[in-house]
Amino acid sequence: MRIDIFTIFPELIEQFLGHSLMARARSAGIADLRSHDIREFATDVHRSVDDSPFGGGAGMVMRPEPIFAAVEAHQPPRPLYLLSPGGRAFDQSMAEELADSEGFSLLCGRYEGVDDRVREHCCDGEISLGDFVLNGGEVAALAICEAVVRLLPNVMGNSASATEESFTSGLLEYPQFTRPAEFRGWTVPEVLRSGDHAKVAAWRLAQAEERTRSLRPDLWNSYQRSGDVGTGAE
Ligand SMILES: C[S@@+](CC[C@H](N)C(=O)[O-])C[C@H]1O[C@@H](n2cnc3c(N)ncnc32)[C@H](O)[C@@H]1O
Repeated sequence: MRIDIFTIFPELIEQFLGHSLMARARSAGIADLRSHDIREFATDVHRSVDDSPFGGGAGMVMRPEPIFAAVEAHQPPRPLYLLSPGGRAFDQSMAEELADSEGFSLLCGRYEGVDDRVREHCCDGEISLGDFVLNGGEVAALAICEAVVRLLPNVMGNSASATEESFTSGLLEYPQFTRPAEFRGWTVPEVLRSGDHAKVAAWRLAQAEERTRSLRPDLWNSYQRSGDVGTGAE
């Protein structure tokens, strides 16, 4: 899997990718993660990547020339997604879709966004991290990258952890506990210490269903519609 990220702040991307599971996935050759500095492709003396908007208005807009030049020089894996508040909302099913692919690329906007010719003629789609506005696409790119790379085979220590996590079965995850069994008078539920695997599984499913019902009625409704209630089916 190869993921290319186009940005004017490659050092932000590299700093993050140098830690934890992302660094491990990279050094093990599981994920070929590349960041590209758009500013290297600016041609004027000031290496400018932005200019004022036609028609007036606040802020600056990223110019198309350095972005097209960077993408054409690096020939990144497609699809190339523009990070944008107006894009398809990123979620676990999209992370799974991307993790099943050979690779993809992400373009981080800054300022008031990018010249629309980039969206139309250079990118293949748009992804949003949610209904809020960030200063730039880098945090969104890193969130997407992490959500995808952790799903790749041999990245997480325990492969069962990905299949049992929130959203994978349509439910939020059940509550987790570790030692000590009693902390400040709060005890871990007895069933989790019983050693009875069937009872533990039933308790976890009931907890996951109850949490989803009370915290995320939207997820709960689609889970109910799927007919999986009480079965734990994926
Ligand atoms: C300050 S934002 C531009 C917002 C734009 N003027 C608007 O109103 O939609 C700068 C860049 O941050 C990134 N960005 C901001 N919010 C985002 C979100 N929710 N999801 C993905 N990227 C986002 C995009 O790449 C965007 O081009």
